[in-house]
Amino acid sequence: MTNLENTGRHHLGQRSVKRLGYGAMQLAGTGVFGPPRDRAEAVAVLREAVETGVNHIDTSDFYGPHVTNQIIREALHPYADDLVIVTKVGASRGPDASWNPAFSREALTAAVHDNLRNLGLDVLDVVNLRAMFDVHGPAEGDLEEPLTVLADLQRQGLIRHIGLSNVTAKQVADGREITEIVCVQNQYNLAHRGDDALIDQLAADGTAYVPFFPLGGFSPLQSSTLSAVAARLELTPMQVALAWLLKRSPNILLIPGTSSRGHLRENLAAADVDLSAEVMAELDGIGVVE
Ligand SMILES: NC(=O)c1ccc[n+]([C@@H]2O[C@H](COP(=O)([O-])OP(=O)(O)OC[C@H]3O[C@@H](n4cnc5c(N)ncnc54)[C@H](OP(=O)(O)O)[C@@H]3O)[C@@H](O)[C@H]2O)c1
Repeated sequence: MTNLENTGRHHLGQRSVKRLGYGAMQLAGTGVFGPPRDRAEAVAVLREAVETGVNHIDTSDFYGPHVTNQIIREALHPYADDLVIVTKVGASRGPDASWNPAFSREALTAAVHDNLRNLGLDVLDVVNLRAMFDVHGPAEGDLEEPLTVLADLQRQGLIRHIGLSNVTAKQVADGREITEIVCVQNQYNLAHRGDDALIDQLAADGTAYVPFFPLGGFSPLQSSTLSAVAARLELTPMQVALAWLLKRSPNILLIPGTSSRGHLRENLAAADVDLSAEVMAELDGIGVVE
C-alpha cells in the first residue's frame, strides 16, 4: 500500500503535514459551481484520501459555493486530530459562476464565518488570502487592508495561520511585515515554471509552497517528453508530474485534485516514486521559464 510518509513532511505553522495531500476543488459541479454529478463518489474520494493517509486538504467556501466544504464535512467530520484543512478567502461567486474579488472587511469576515460553519469548525487552521488583482495570475497590488482584517480575525481566535495565494514575491515580502505568512499557493507545475525563484526563496526560510494546478488544472498536462518518461518508468504522466514536484523542492506540498477514486489512487501512488537526477534534468526541459 502507498505510504505517504515516503514523501516526508513539512510544517504549516505549528501543524505538520505529509507532502502529498488533496485539493477538493474538483468535488463541486462543472466549472466549480453547484453540486457534483456524483455526490456519493465525492464523499468516497475524501474518505479514501484520509484512509490512505492524507492529512492536508485544500478547499474554499467559494467552491460551489459552499458545496465543497459541505461535502468535506459530510465525509470527514468529526475530523481526525492530525487533519489540516486549508481554506481560502478573497473571492465570491456570481450567479453566472463568475469569480469576483471580495476583499472588504465585511466580505472577508463573512467568508471566514462561512468556512467555519460549512466545515463545522471553531477555528480554521490555515486561511489563504487569494489575491484577485488579476484572477488568472499574480499581479502587483496592495494587500495591506485585507491582510490586516485576517490578522484581526486571527487575534480573535478564528484563524490559526495565514497564507497567501496568487501573489508576487513583493506581496509575500510586504505581507510578512503585517503578519506571519506560513504558505504561498500559486500556479506551478512542470510546464508553468514562473515561480522557480520564489520557491527557492521560500525554501531557504522554511515556508511551504503549495502549487495549484499541479497536474495542469482544467487542461491536464500534455507533453511528449512527459509521456515518454512515464512509459519508460512504467508510471502514468500524472504520477511523473507529481513526483517531479516532490523532488523539485522540500518545501513543496502537493494538493492534486480529482473527483474519482481511480485518479486519487494513481496520484497518491506518486509517493512511492523517486526520480533520478537524470530524469529530473530531462523533465526540467519541459518547463518554460516565464
Ligand atoms: N489558490 C487558487 O487560486 C487555486 C486555483 C485552483 C486550484 N486550487 C487548489 O489546487 C487544487 C489542485 O488544483 P486542480 O484540482 O484545479 O488541478 P490539478 O490538480 O492540476 O488537476 C485536476 C484535473 O486533473 C484531472 N486529474 C486528476 N488526476 C488525474 C489523473 N490521475 N489522470 C488524469 N486526470 C487527472 C482531474 O479530473 P478528474 O476529476 O476526472 O480526476 C482534474 O480535471 C484544487 O483542488 C484547489 O484546492 C487553488
